[in-house]
Amino acid sequence: MDISKYRKDFPILNSDDSPVYLDSACMTLRPQIVIDAITDYYTNYPACGGRSVHKLSWQVTENFEMARDSLRRFMGAESPSEIVFTKNATESMNIVANGLNLTKGDEVLTSDKEHNANVVPWHHLAKYKGIKYDVLPAKDNYFFDIEALKESLSSKTKLFSFVHTSNLDGHSNPAKEIVEICHDKGVKVMMDTAQSAPHKEINVVDLDVDFAAVSAHKFCGPSGMGALYGKFDELKDLIPTYVGGSTVVNSTYKDYKLLPPPSCFEAGLQNYAGAIGSGAAAEYIMNIGRDNIQEHENKLNKLMTKELCDVESLNLVGPSDANQRGGIFSFNLDGWDPTEVAMHLDEEYNIAIRSGMHCVHSWFNSRGIDGTARASVYLYNNEEDVLSFTNAIKESIDNRK
Ligand SMILES: Cc1ncc(COP(=O)(O)O)c(C=O)c1O
Repeated sequence: MDISKYRKDFPILNSDDSPVYLDSACMTLRPQIVIDAITDYYTNYPACGGRSVHKLSWQVTENFEMARDSLRRFMGAESPSEIVFTKNATESMNIVANGLNLTKGDEVLTSDKEHNANVVPWHHLAKYKGIKYDVLPAKDNYFFDIEALKESLSSKTKLFSFVHTSNLDGHSNPAKEIVEICHDKGVKVMMDTAQSAPHKEINVVDLDVDFAAVSAHKFCGPSGMGALYGKFDELKDLIPTYVGGSTVVNSTYKDYKLLPPPSCFEAGLQNYAGAIGSGAAAEYIMNIGRDNIQEHENKLNKLMTKELCDVESLNLVGPSDANQRGGIFSFNLDGWDPTEVAMHLDEEYNIAIRSGMHCVHSWFNSRGIDGTARASVYLYNNEEDVLSFTNAIKESIDNRK
């Protein structure tokens, strides 16, 4: 399916000085329909949901809950009660980290290619609660080591938390197999789906995962919004990190009674426009179809790889096969600092990419690499974008010789 017609939905791509935007692994662009949903809230019913009884308030509650249901379908969850609105994937994972009530001697294991969002919370608990945090080494640098996982889980392991698709190289881990192995050993599983759910079909019920985290800004939604999926029984057992208004059935000077999930995790007045915008974004993506998005990204990444694979001074970071890297192309150029590459492309060619360690500091530090330059595509990119980028890279190298 040709999805190029969706490009016109993105205002920033339709002006005279539109950038070549290849930084969607960091943040995606927003289509008009999402911008309109946010504006509609602030323009037409800018009220508080769930508290007042006037018509505007009811409309907020209704649209907020409809957005939750959109997120439910986006993740393939069974019940809207299993979707908690958060401010991003980082907060979602922290809610689980803190809510599991882990104590000294409990162990948490992650893969070795995790975003800081799935590294730092465990270091933090190791420091302040005495848990043990361990890392599972990859096979040949980029690939998940299933055998090592089987050997590493013990009766003390309480959680295996892993990235579904890596933001560093676009490689995806074998989620279903991982979950099965962990559950066989009685270990709960959390999946960081920040880079997978926006790009490919995901079904948390089919995967049988206990928790999953997403960020809306990675699937055309607003900044500062995300969601936590949790099986209802798992959410019921989590201790909420933040409590207060909207989380309780009742309270007295002596006690309080929490509401069931998801409300007990959504303390205080919520980002209604953000949630409603996230729902609109989820609908937009589901409407295009993530199979189509995945196929489109794959085609573009193959082209990018073909154009650049013979460039001698370019070192690709990640599997050499473009089919294994989703929409991500991470690389270094001999003699260039990655940030210099990104700044040069921006200044000379109006091409936006990302550079640095992409918040995967632990992976880079363990290998003594300073970072990479990273180009990443999404549904609105086209072959022209890719060729502008690959030609700019080749020209920049030639000009330096
Ligand atoms: C794989 C992965 N996990 C987690 C995150 C954290 O997302 P956020 O900063 O929106 O919480 C990111 C963001 O880049 C990511 O790529």
